[in-house]
Parts: sequence; structure tokens; C-alpha cells
Amino acid sequence: MTIHVDPDRLRDDFDALAAIGATADGGIERLALTPAHLEARAWFLRRASEAGLETVVDAAGNHSAILPSTAPDAPTLLLGSHLDSVPRGGRFDGALGVLAALEVLRVVQAERLELPVALEAIDFSDEEGTLVGLLGSLAAAGALDADMLAAPRGGRKALLAALARAGLDEARLIDARRDPRTLAGYLELHIEQGPVLEQAGVQIGVVTAIVGSRSLELVFEGASAHAGTTPMAARRDAGLGAARFVDRVHETVSSGFPGTVATVGSIELEPGAFNVVPGRARVLLEFRAGTAAELDRLEQRLLDEARSVAAAQRLELQARPVGRWEPTALDPSVRAVIAAAAASLGLSTQELASGAGHDAQALAQVTRAGMIFVPSVGGVSHQPGELTPWQDCVNGADVLLQSALGLALGGPT
Ligand code: GLV
Ligand code: MN
Ligand code: MN
Repeated sequence: MTIHVDPDRLRDDFDALAAIGATADGGIERLALTPAHLEARAWFLRRASEAGLETVVDAAGNHSAILPSTAPDAPTLLLGSHLDSVPRGGRFDGALGVLAALEVLRVVQAERLELPVALEAIDFSDEEGTLVGLLGSLAAAGALDADMLAAPRGGRKALLAALARAGLDEARLIDARRDPRTLAGYLELHIEQGPVLEQAGVQIGVVTAIVGSRSLELVFEGASAHAGTTPMAARRDAGLGAARFVDRVHETVSSGFPGTVATVGSIELEPGAFNVVPGRARVLLEFRAGTAAELDRLEQRLLDEARSVAAAQRLELQARPVGRWEPTALDPSVRAVIAAAAASLGLSTQELASGAGHDAQALAQVTRAGMIFVPSVGGVSHQPGELTPWQDCVNGADVLLQSALGLALGGPT
């Protein structure tokens, strides 16, 4: 008889978690290592303890619930995602994967299944990159690099303050590294965050690959000046440079780089007043592509555009790389296990690539990794309107359960 997750228990958890950091518009805000995020993580460990599971927090702040195996020297099958969010984010991104992982452990425990692997439900630190990006999962994979910590996406000051709040030591983050020989694999359930599954009317996505992305901080420097007395032609307006650059980014990518995306997600103008021509513009640029070669080409081209805009407005330009995540293929054998699990539950599947980044990207460097997607209504994500019909969430959790059993029981690790 096929075992299933408990949809009501999962729903209770989902609602309780969504109340932590809830925003008035129905979303959540739990930026990495802020009080709301730390509260969500503490809640997760409490739920795990209440279920009689072991709990652990590693040197990178990753929070885990563990169901040990009775087999000697059993490797660990990780099931995870993240409880942090983007600013003004939605309730499903990351949260669904962590809660479903916890639910899988509870079901396996209640069914008294003897597995040759330990199961670990893990909530990784800072997946969203408010601070560094995939901080916890890269640390677990032994791939957290010193450059990323030296020039983090959210700035050094924010990183150090966040680590202090969470009681983490920067020098010890790398101690979270897992010996790959102790891992039996990694599975992550996540909402698709795009329109593909909904439009195709398919219930489960089997993820083939995860896009690579890079982040750059660009600073256009001109001269602040009186907004009433400085003639238009005499200005070195950093705001105009930033605005022209946004337009160039859109044009360049839309016309010459099919299948890639680039975004200016933030512009800060200084000094920032009605009556002062901005002398400085800080621009946060991110771009994504399926191959490293395409990322290189895009980076060169976007930097050329920034230089040309700066020259035309007589601005100085500084560009600083602040993040780099490689495109990643997911393990074909894990994909097959996920597809078989979905089929055994009578659910339709489709293979697709992920345009969003995920912790699976880091774990895939050291262990066989796979991802299960469920549909996102309207393809909407990274905003409060994020929604996946509850039955799809339950389907995804059931596929996670069956895939975990498939990996645990189905052959060599
Ligand atoms: C993470 O959600 C990302 O793709 O930015
Ligand atoms: Mn996510
Ligand atoms: Mn996200």
C-alpha cells in the first residue's frame, strides 16, 4: 500500500509558518538572519522536536531535523530548501520544500520504515542572497568561496551584522562542509515560480538543470548640482546614466540573447532630493543564462553598454562582481526516480529547466541531486501573490516522499 503525507498536518505547519514575518498583503518577509527568519527557524526546530526528531544547527546556521537510520554508517539523504525570503516575498518559495521535508520524516517515522539511510530535513541559510546567496548550501557543499564573503551581494556590513545576530562565526562557516561520502543524495521540492506547468496542465515538474547567474554592483559617478540653476547640457547626471543603462539592458538582452534574462533590481540615487541633480547612482544588476559561455558573453556586452552610457553622460563607472552561481545539470538517475515516483502516484510530469536559483545547485556539486516542481498560479513568484493550489503542494510532498524512498531503497548511493 502506498504511503502518503498527512495533508492536514502539512497545512497546519504551512499556515503557522506563514504567520511568521507575515505582511499585510498576504505575503511574508523573512530576510536571511533577520529576527523573523530566526523565529521561523526556531519554530521549525520546535516542530521537529515535538515530532521526536533529532535537531541540529551547523556552523553555517543550517537548521536540520534528523531521522537516523539503524543501519551502521548509514549515509544521509538530505531533503531541503530554505525559510528565508526576498523582500516582500510569497509564502511558498522555499517554505514548501522545508515543510514537506519535515513531513516526509514524520511519515517515515510513523510508518516505522527501516531505511538504509538517515533522512535529514534541512533549512539552508540565505538561499535568497540578501547576504551572500546560497550561503548555507555552498558551505555544506564545501564550495563557499572567500571572495563571496569578502564582497558579498548584500555588502560586508550587512553580512557581519547578520552573522552576529545569528551567533555565527565567519571563520567557521566552512566547517559546515559535509563529507560527500556521508551523503546519499539531495532532493528539493519547490514551486516552479514560472508559468510552464500551469500552462501545460501538468502536475509535477522534473527539473533538468538550474540556470547560472551573476550579480554586479555598478556605480555611476557624476556631479551633484543645483536642480534649478544647472542647465540641462551642463549636467553630469548619474540618475540619467542609470536610467539609460536600464533601457540598454532590456534592449540588449531582448534583441541579442534569447533564453537569457537580465534585471536591474535596484537603483539608489544620491543625494536623493527633488532639487539636487543626482551625483551618484548605485545600480544592482543581475543576469542569468544556461551556460557559462553565455554568461561570459552577456557580462562583456552589458559592461560595454554601461561604459558607453557612462561616457555619453561624462560619468565615471565602477563595476564590482558580487555574486556568481554556476549553471548546473541535475542528476539523470534522480530525475528518473522522481518521474517514476510521480507516475506511481498517477501524476502527470514534464521535464523543465529552472530559471530560478536553488540550493540544489550547490548540493549537486557533491552529491546526486534532484528537484521536484509544482505549478505556480500565473507563474507569479518573489511577490506576495505567490500561490500554488493546495492539492498541488500535497502532490509535490507525496512525490518527495516516494522519491526519497526510491533513492533510499533503490540501489547504490
Ligand atoms: C532565488 O530565488 C533566485 O532565483 O533568485
Ligand atoms: Mn526558493
Ligand atoms: Mn526565491
